[in-house]
Amino acid sequence: MEKFIELAKKRGSCRNFTDKPVDKELLLSCVEAASMAPSACNSQPWKFTIVMDAAKRKELAGLAQDAGFNQWAEKAQAFIVVSEDAHPNVMPAVAERYGEKRFAEGDVGMAEAYLLLQADELGLGTCVIGTFVDAKVKRLLGISEGDTVRAVIAVGYPAEPPRPKKRRSVEEISRII
Ligand SMILES: Cc1cc2nc3c(=O)[nH]c(=O)nc-3n(C[C@H](O)[C@H](O)[C@H](O)COP(=O)(O)O)c2cc1C
Repeated sequence: MEKFIELAKKRGSCRNFTDKPVDKELLLSCVEAASMAPSACNSQPWKFTIVMDAAKRKELAGLAQDAGFNQWAEKAQAFIVVSEDAHPNVMPAVAERYGEKRFAEGDVGMAEAYLLLQADELGLGTCVIGTFVDAKVKRLLGISEGDTVRAVIAVGYPAEPPRPKKRRSVEEISRII
């Protein structure tokens, strides 16, 4: 197994996929990795809709182009749609005092990160898509009305290597006090 920092540096968004289908077991393995993420009071406020069906994929790729870009999504061999529960199961005392912190949004983001890195480990390319209309994706995939769709993640075998990473330096983003 490679060192985590190497995996994190290597993984990059993939926007060009081959025609090779992705095995269901690999997609489930990505979801399993996501489920290992931490969450407030272990509330696990996430759900994953794995979209393999060709007709549904085509429709979803269309919805992912809502802002007029992401045409490449049509080549994704699968999507994993990540949604956040309407009512996360946080301890009542925590919910009452800190409810406005909306822990669930951060929890779901961490689960997404685990999912992306597991996909990379399995040789799969991924790209998070954020430009979609929540209600349309929910209607297409039968996701509960009250839940929030946080990400549509395109998955497939990469047809090209990821672009070089562009990141702010550690010095710029951190301070030691
Ligand atoms: C919430 C979110 C929404 C994103 N939406 C899109 C998108 O709609 N289209 C796209 O091509 N990339 C999208 N991305 C991918 C980012 O552009 C990408 O992660 C960023 O440029 C860093 O590059 P890297 O993933 O290769 O490290 C999104 C990423 C996140 C986390």
